[in-house]
Amino acid sequence: MQKKIAVLPGDGIGKEIVAGTVQVMQTIAEQFNHQFEFEYGCIGGEAIDVDGNPLPEETVSLCKNSDAILLGAVGGPKWDNNPPALRPEAGLLAIRKKMGLFANLRPVQAIPSLADASTLKKEVIDGVDLMIVRELTGGIYFGTPRERRIENGKELVVDTLSYTNEEIERIIRKAFDLAMIRRKKVTSVDKANVLESSRVWREIANNVAKDYPEVELEHMLVDNAAMQLIRNPKQFDVIVTENMFGDILSDEASMLTGSLGMLASASLSADGPGLYEPVHGSAPDIAGQNKANPLATILSAAMMLKYSFNLIEEGNTIEEAVNQVLEQGYRTADIADGAKYVLTTTEMVEQVIRQIKEI
Ligand code: NAI
Ligand code: MG
Repeated sequence: MQKKIAVLPGDGIGKEIVAGTVQVMQTIAEQFNHQFEFEYGCIGGEAIDVDGNPLPEETVSLCKNSDAILLGAVGGPKWDNNPPALRPEAGLLAIRKKMGLFANLRPVQAIPSLADASTLKKEVIDGVDLMIVRELTGGIYFGTPRERRIENGKELVVDTLSYTNEEIERIIRKAFDLAMIRRKKVTSVDKANVLESSRVWREIANNVAKDYPEVELEHMLVDNAAMQLIRNPKQFDVIVTENMFGDILSDEASMLTGSLGMLASASLSADGPGLYEPVHGSAPDIAGQNKANPLATILSAAMMLKYSFNLIEEGNTIEEAVNQVLEQGYRTADIADGAKYVLTTTEMVEQVIRQIKEI
C-alpha cells in the first residue's frame, strides 16, 4: 500500500516524539511491504515565527493532499503573551475547522503493567477498554450568538448550544461504525432531562440504531456518566457525546489509566484525511532533553493505520509491541515509578522498533 502522510511536528517535545514515531512507521512499512511517504509542514509557534501565521496556507494544502496527518503538539512560553489569533493553539482550532474534523476519538485502555500508576483500584481499572467519540466542530463552543448584552437594563451573557440534525447524525453514525469493529455497544451521553438539543440527540440516536441491529444502544445522562466512569468504567465500549460533554468526559476518562504520556487520539472527517496526535501538549518543561514519552504519539500512529488506512494487523502490531515493551519493564521517566529500565525518548523508540521486528 502506498500512502502520503503529512507530518506536523510543531513545538517543544513535538519534534522529538514525532521523529521517533516516523521511525516506527517506517519499520512497519518495511515489515509489511508498504510505502509511506512523509512530507513535513509547519504549525503552531514555529509557524508563527517563520510565517506569521499559526497555520500557513502551505500547511493546509499539504494536509489536503495527504492521506493522513500526524501532529506532535504546539505551544510554549515564547508565544504565551501573543494576541489570540497569533497563539499556537489557534493553529489547532483552524486545522480542525479547515479539514472538517468533526469526530474526535479518544481510546482509554488499561495497560496491565501500568495499573499501579492509576489512582483508582486495580480491580476497577483492569480490563478497561473504551472509546470516547466527541463531536468536535459544533455545539456550545461554536454556536452564536455568543455575547454580553444589556436586556431590560440588566447585564446578560449568552452562549448558544446549536446543532443541525446532520451534525448529530454523522457523529452518532461514526460511533456505531466504531462499535461494529469493537464490542458492539454504544452509550449515548446527553442531558435529555433538561436540554432540547439532547432530546433531539436521543431521537436521532434511536433512529440510527435501527440501521445497526447488532449494536446495543443505551442512553445515559451526563452527570451519571461522569460517575459511572469512576465507579465501573468496564461497562463502556463506545461513548458518543456532544462537544462540551465530550471535552470533560474524555479528560476524566483519560485519568483512569494514569499517564498523559500514553494517551492517543484521532480526529476524523467525513471523507478527507484524519488527524492523529497525542492528547498531551508540547511539555516545554522537558523539551529538548530527550526525556519525553513517545508512546502516545506512537499509539496515535497505530490509530492512523487502523482508521485511515484500514491496516488493522499493522496497527495491532504497534499496540502489541508497546504493551510488550512495557511488560518487559521499560519506562520513560514520566511512568518510571520503580521501573527496571528508565529510558530516553530515543531509547524507548528503539525498544518499540526491536519489538515490532520480533512480532
Ligand atoms: P502538557 O501536556 O504539555 O504538559 C503537562 C505535564 O505533563 C508537563 O509536566 C509535561 O512535562 C508532562 N508531559 C506531557 N506530555 C509528556 C510526555 N509525552 N512525556 C513525558 N511527560 C509529558 O500541558 P501544559 O503544560 O498545560 O501545556 C504546555 C504547552 O502545550 C502549552 O503551550 C499548551 O497550550 C500546549 N498544549 C498543546 C496541546 C496540543 O498541541 N494538542 C494540548 C495541550 C496543551
Ligand atoms: Mg480538554
